[in-house]
Amino acid sequence: MSKINNDLLKKLLETFGPSGNEETIREIIREEIKDYADEIKVDALGNLIAIKKGQGKKIMVAGHMDEIGIMVSNIDENGFLRFTNIGGVSPFTALYQRVMFVDGTLGVVGMEKLDEMKDLALSKMFIDIGVYSKEEAMKKVNVGDVACFYTPFVQNGDYIMSKALDDRIGCYVAIEALKALKDCANEVYFVFTVQEEVGLRGARTAAYGVDPDMGIAIDVTTTGDTPKCKTMDVKMGNGAAIKVKDSSILTHPEVKKLMVEVAKENNIPYQLEILEAGGTDSGAIHITRSGVPSGVISIPCRYVHSPSEMVSVKDVESAIELLCKILQK
Ligand code: CO
Ligand code: ZN
Repeated sequence: MSKINNDLLKKLLETFGPSGNEETIREIIREEIKDYADEIKVDALGNLIAIKKGQGKKIMVAGHMDEIGIMVSNIDENGFLRFTNIGGVSPFTALYQRVMFVDGTLGVVGMEKLDEMKDLALSKMFIDIGVYSKEEAMKKVNVGDVACFYTPFVQNGDYIMSKALDDRIGCYVAIEALKALKDCANEVYFVFTVQEEVGLRGARTAAYGVDPDMGIAIDVTTTGDTPKCKTMDVKMGNGAAIKVKDSSILTHPEVKKLMVEVAKENNIPYQLEILEAGGTDSGAIHITRSGVPSGVISIPCRYVHSPSEMVSVKDVESAIELLCKILQK
């Protein structure tokens, strides 16, 4: 099946794009897919929509372009930046990590002196961009500017490690499926959504506009395979995960049945996923208008929302194959 495209992955993963600031990543994806789609448009919220024409059902495939990040809320006299979160950023994950602003300015996240580590909160933390005054800091950043984690993409053996695998790996799966789709039996809308991490906002407006017969989100899910973690049936390396439930959706029974059938028919490794906390774009898609039967193909991912998320190459390949076969059915 597909060979992993490391050049494309590196580009997708290392690009800056916290929620609401998807311009750069959108242009990279648009450039990558322009020769494969019959029509490409961007809606008012910034969702990138690529259409592959066909006679059958209208299917919306969604992968979110945005990533978690931080926003500068205050700059002190000595040039230290106070910040708030964009999406799910834990203070414990952010501490002493490097962050990158859109112009390439880099900083490190530090903290005030604390007697108890459990008191760590974003309000007790700051970003140090290596300047000595507010005036100097403001030549580089301003209140309202956003930053994402700064970590290089790594691929070694079966694993990929990077920031933003949530959900650039979903975008990658959608891009590869679009490229592989020749004469399509269905009409497929590949939507690269905005603002998923702050509440599935892009998917909500895109689904209303597209008005699909079926929705499929491609996103990461957590795993239950690391030492003494929360019990969960999903393991990295065991195949694409077919979601049954998370906090945003109960997968439509017909969609779940279709996904499992296609996986079995084609001998694609798969596992069933029940995620206790978290949601995806399908959570918004399935309650659009009078309802859209929807499901999710998940890529098992360790350390979600950290600068070093990890997925398996095999699982990514399974997800691409499963999506392609479903779209052709
Ligand atoms: Co996420
Ligand atoms: Zn996600």
